[in-house]
Amino acid sequence: MEAIETKVDKKDPQYLENYGRMEAMVARLNEDLRIAREVRSEKALARLAEQSKLPVRKRLELLLDKNTPVLEIAPLAAYDMYDKGVHGAGSVVVIGVIHGREVLITASDPTIKGGTIYPMGVKKALRCQTIAMENRLPLISLVDSGGAYLPLQSEVFPDSDDGGRIFYNQAIISKMGIPQITAVMGLCTAGAAYIPAMSDEVVHVKGTGAIFLGGPPLVRAATGEVVTAEELGGADLHCRDSGVSDYWAEDDAHALQIIRDIVQGLPDPGKSRLSTRPPRPPLYDPKELYGIVPRSLSTLYDIREVIARIVDGSEFLEFKALFGPTLVCGWTYIHGYPVGILGNYGVLFSNSALKATQFIEICDKRGIPLIFLQNITGYIIGREYERGGITKDGHKMVNAVATATVPKFTVIVGASFGAGNYGMCGRGYSPRFLWMWPNAQIGVMGGEQAANVLISVKNDQLAREGQPPLAEEMVKAIKEPIIAMAEKEGNAYYSTANLWDDGILDPAKTRDVLGLAISASLNGPIHSGPQGHGLFRM
Ligand code: COA
Repeated sequence: MEAIETKVDKKDPQYLENYGRMEAMVARLNEDLRIAREVRSEKALARLAEQSKLPVRKRLELLLDKNTPVLEIAPLAAYDMYDKGVHGAGSVVVIGVIHGREVLITASDPTIKGGTIYPMGVKKALRCQTIAMENRLPLISLVDSGGAYLPLQSEVFPDSDDGGRIFYNQAIISKMGIPQITAVMGLCTAGAAYIPAMSDEVVHVKGTGAIFLGGPPLVRAATGEVVTAEELGGADLHCRDSGVSDYWAEDDAHALQIIRDIVQGLPDPGKSRLSTRPPRPPLYDPKELYGIVPRSLSTLYDIREVIARIVDGSEFLEFKALFGPTLVCGWTYIHGYPVGILGNYGVLFSNSALKATQFIEICDKRGIPLIFLQNITGYIIGREYERGGITKDGHKMVNAVATATVPKFTVIVGASFGAGNYGMCGRGYSPRFLWMWPNAQIGVMGGEQAANVLISVKNDQLAREGQPPLAEEMVKAIKEPIIAMAEKEGNAYYSTANLWDDGILDPAKTRDVLGLAISASLNGPIHSGPQGHGLFRM
């Protein structure tokens, strides 16, 4: 396989300007991640120490094998939401390694409002369960939570994808034969009591862990019975009397050791096999991606320069290189795993959509995972293209993406607009994982375009009524808020806060994150269901 030859000039002032800009964005990202992971109130930390509990990240450190890679999911969920302090939506979710086995861990953070579950916390819990189901990863829960965040109870409780779905999914995960192990390291109150109850095995920490449907204040109010949390649902009661819990733990460290022992004893179903090669680093430094990404999303750049910095040896066998050139497709390896990559180099035309369809079909037939590098403003529009059947050809691509059964991974490296988001495997198309680069933007269309559409609709309306078009100041008054809204709601931080993605990535880490994600995906079957696709409109 030939290596991609770069055309990047590292002395070009534009490259240097781009580099500085991306470096600043990555520095901001790292600082935001540090705050989300480390900054907690004195009061909450003191309360933790008083109860002899370990902080959530220390718990994870003790649970996981030393010096093994960790892939954190949605660390900036709920960013800038609520009171700005609900870091990671109140929980930490990671894919990590225990006794050499990849597992998915979700841990509530008791230093954030008693580990209570906010609306975004529910969404993150459901996302975590989807990851467990799609990738057949054993699911470990470290529960230390006051249950629903009561001031927002209407947003966490009643609907189909609210709290109840968590326990519903636990039943489905159990039926699928995916191990679920829970450590009770704080309160599991009301609904949260079902997290251990619906698990295969429950480890219960003496003194701090308690499981009950109604806590002491509720019991007192309802029945007049006065009991402590330990008497009502502590380790003694549940390990000796009720049988709700299976293992009695002296403290946090002991509970984590028991979980490690349980995982060690799990039968190893083996991972799906791909025809791997020995991994090799790319020829070019991944940090050069900083200089490649232009300031403006409308400035075209060659996606091969990105591919060259994330794949083994920068090698790439390009498929149909001369046909439909606005979509680059080809085969390569990432950390030794074979993959098919689709990356945008301009808007999607009929021929690029047809090429994508054929390429996806081949990868699906051969069981090769698909990687989508999204930088797409949409499919081409205009009379000529409608006449040529762009909608029909776009449909084939969307159909192929939706029905492909191999693991799919999406990285939004620039624009993600309109139907381009669908064709390039946006969140609605069930990629196993999806990330954004800090510069990425997502939306139905850009703010300027959206504003122009609305102004044009208004002017047509006025014309029908025999009135003159909007005056300049009215146009401005309509445009400005729409552009501002699109910028705010289209940026990577807004996306990650809302869990539209699994995290914002430092571009230089894309290769390693993809490698970990592909490895995690191989815990499940290569084909998620029967192969085949819907009807192709010809
Ligand atoms: N909803 C909203 N906020 C809650 C909450 C809930 N269910 N449970 C706790 N909090 C808040 C507290 O008000 C406090 O906020 P503050 O830091 O702004 O003062 C913070 O979480 C920590 O609570 P605190 O009681 O001081 O900490 P703790 O470590 O001693 O106890 C809990 C934590 C969760 C065990 C305890 O607060 C509790 O029992 N909460 C009620 C649980 C419950 O009955 N939930 C039913 C919901 S289904």
